[in-house]
Amino acid sequence: MTGVTVRVPAKLNLQLAVGPPRADGYHDLVTVFHAVSLFDEVTARPAGRDAVSVSGEGADRVPEDGDNLALRAVAALRAEVDPGTRADDAGVHITIAKRIPVAAGLAGGSADAAAALVACNELWGAGAGQPQLLEVAARVGSDVAFALLGGTAVGRGRGERLTPALAPATPYHWVLAFADGQLSTPAVYAALDRLRAAEAGGSAAKGGSAAKHGAAEPALDAALMSALRSGDARQLGRALSNDLQPAALSLFPALRKTLAAGLELGALGALVSGSGPTCLFLAASADRALDLAASLSGAGVCRSVARATGPVPGAAVVQAAR
Ligand code: C5P
Repeated sequence: MTGVTVRVPAKLNLQLAVGPPRADGYHDLVTVFHAVSLFDEVTARPAGRDAVSVSGEGADRVPEDGDNLALRAVAALRAEVDPGTRADDAGVHITIAKRIPVAAGLAGGSADAAAALVACNELWGAGAGQPQLLEVAARVGSDVAFALLGGTAVGRGRGERLTPALAPATPYHWVLAFADGQLSTPAVYAALDRLRAAEAGGSAAKGGSAAKHGAAEPALDAALMSALRSGDARQLGRALSNDLQPAALSLFPALRKTLAAGLELGALGALVSGSGPTCLFLAASADRALDLAASLSGAGVCRSVARATGPVPGAAVVQAAR
């Protein structure tokens, strides 16, 4: 086999409820993941040693060494299965064609890692089933497992424990506003911890209960799940929520203007995507999404816009050359 190409989607979080920091530095989450039609393409080919090259949107900001999440995924899968490769072909060259912006709150790096798992599984004929790939994925990063699964799913734990959402196959029409800049996920989580600590301190000083204002145990939003079950875009727009949004706004205040502009232009809902800085907007139809995208790009409140529909399937082989 000369190479395997896998297409993998970006994710949105329709709900992101964040608990207090854990001893391992992560936060327990309850989140509703939603895969959308903005794809990276990842190709794996046999090579003398592991390497990665990246082209496309934000390629210069993706590490091409062992820090690359796709290469970490290759190593994690190799440790799990027998690649059965000859010594001179023991490595894999990963080529990533990026359309998902880097460090944008769309889990682009996790998507590439998930795609690398699927591509190498196929390249090596390793025959790992989805449960085994999901386990390897969860060790590589918090959002990697969802990029394998796709669709709409509830994530718990660090986000890696997934339950597919039972919902009709309603297509939703999204507009994504890409920001001029990036946010680091750990920095946004740290900002949230600081905001919550300050709030709890202030409330304790006033005689209030600190516990009430700190991070509560995260819980799934019943209104959001009901909106998804009924396929009602209006209800869904009202139910979108993200605990990381105040933290992302504190680090990137210009996003307030972006969110407000989208709502003024008729979006059914507006939200910072994951740890940001991409903002997402729900439109009532494909036509409304087209109008909204055009108006938003004319409003000068973001670097660029894209339209996407969801849900779409997770990482899948599009081409296996023999
Ligand atoms: O797992 P991943 O490498 O994608 O996470 C990136 C960073 O985001 C973590 O190092 C951590 O700071 C933060 N994070 C968190 N809680 C989660 C997921 C991510 O604090 N559930």
